[in-house]
Amino acid sequence: MHVNMDGQGPLHAQLTRALKVALFAGRLGGAGRLPATRQLARDLGLSRNTVLAAYEQLRAEGFVRGRVGSGSFITPPVRPEVPATTPQAERPPQSAFARRGRRYHDHATMAGRPTPGMRYAFSYGVPYTNPALTSAWARELARAAAYTAPNYPMTQGLPALRDAVCDYLARRRGVQALPEDVLIVAGTQQAMALSARVLLDVGESAVVEEPHYTAMREVLQMHGAQVDAVDVDAQGLRLDHLPSPAPKLVCVTPSHQFPSGVVMSLERRLALLDYARRHDCWIFEDDYDGEFRYDAQPLAALRSLDRDGRVVYVGTFSKVLFPSMRLGYLVMPPGLQRDYLNAKWQDDFGSSAIEQAALANFMADGGFERHLRRTARALAERRSALMDGLARELGDALHIADSRAGMHLVAWLRKADQAQGRALILAAREKGLDLYPIAPYYQRVPAQAGLLMGFASMSVAEIEQAVQVFAACMRGQGLA
Ligand SMILES: Cc1ncc(COP(=O)(O)O)c(C=O)c1O
Repeated sequence: MHVNMDGQGPLHAQLTRALKVALFAGRLGGAGRLPATRQLARDLGLSRNTVLAAYEQLRAEGFVRGRVGSGSFITPPVRPEVPATTPQAERPPQSAFARRGRRYHDHATMAGRPTPGMRYAFSYGVPYTNPALTSAWARELARAAAYTAPNYPMTQGLPALRDAVCDYLARRRGVQALPEDVLIVAGTQQAMALSARVLLDVGESAVVEEPHYTAMREVLQMHGAQVDAVDVDAQGLRLDHLPSPAPKLVCVTPSHQFPSGVVMSLERRLALLDYARRHDCWIFEDDYDGEFRYDAQPLAALRSLDRDGRVVYVGTFSKVLFPSMRLGYLVMPPGLQRDYLNAKWQDDFGSSAIEQAALANFMADGGFERHLRRTARALAERRSALMDGLARELGDALHIADSRAGMHLVAWLRKADQAQGRALILAAREKGLDLYPIAPYYQRVPAQAGLLMGFASMSVAEIEQAVQVFAACMRGQGLA
């Protein structure tokens, strides 16, 4: 039997979703009952406990009845009366925005999505989480739910959270901001969409780095901006490659360039600020994971060097906590507060007050700091395990672009072109190892194949085992 697991979250939850889809499509339960748990576990290569947990959930939601052992009978309304879903023919786009959306963004091919069922994955979109964080967050949420007023939240964000963000930025990122300059947003993604609306008219030009975070480019393109991707060298964005006339917006990741890992030099930071002043343009500073550094002191954020109010500074809790929280912050440039508030109000009135209150309390009572310290230690260990393992097992076969920051590194495969890189990824998948190419983040794909290797989501032991599998695949493909 065939079910489509989506690779998101725990296996039992994936299986529950997949079984529901199959039930609604009439693809399951021909005999009025679900397959036996042992049989399904065998068919899908899952543990029986995973299948039992999924069946239990379906039972709790009323999709099936019966007890374990006596068969799980499909609840009648689901089976005969729900018509199989037939794919709807897509209508033509109804607006210029919809047209651009279809042209520039494709949900189906989003890079970095985990492949379901893999034993090891060097995923880079998943941060370090631990059970202590999960239970602390559950406590904070329960407490916040009890005292948060039920009316609409402030559009700009809860004052307590904006205070906590300012305190954090001053201590850890060298950014001096006042709570009235801070806007709480639903992650970097919303910060980008708001900035596009506030700063750019349709047809105006913006620059992203090459390589770049594809979501950044796509948000700008969907907004209707003309986007150029400008090369990054060992010091950061090549200012001498910026288009002429000057773009109205330049988007950068100076603390840890995504995905190449380059840290923008101080000289380049100052030159970029000078460029923005001379050409009257805006800088979007995406500081997504600059919190984590492994030896050197962090360089001052662009925003902290900005004397002319040209920088929109954006941080996110997706990496320091977890991305499902959907909270981040934007330090608005002087003079544009009203426009940013209007844009946020138009989007959603304001972010969820319960989550904001829980986070503000977590930051104020020291839980966040404790988590950061623990995370920094765990990440340093995991990073060392990965670096040491790669050096030991593969030595010269790789060129590691190490920036001593963030949660991933880039491994260039010295002997592989793009086709060989793709073959390696397929071979690794056969062995239960998910690898992620850097190529999708380039508009001008380099000849050499490279991999983005995240180290936050596996334990040291898992990383060591995954490196062994990786090295065996590299040798198997004649790349080491
Ligand atoms: C460059 C970059 N910026 C920002 C983010 C986080 O986005 P968000 O805050 O919307 O979760 C990511 C996530 O992978 C990223 O790679």
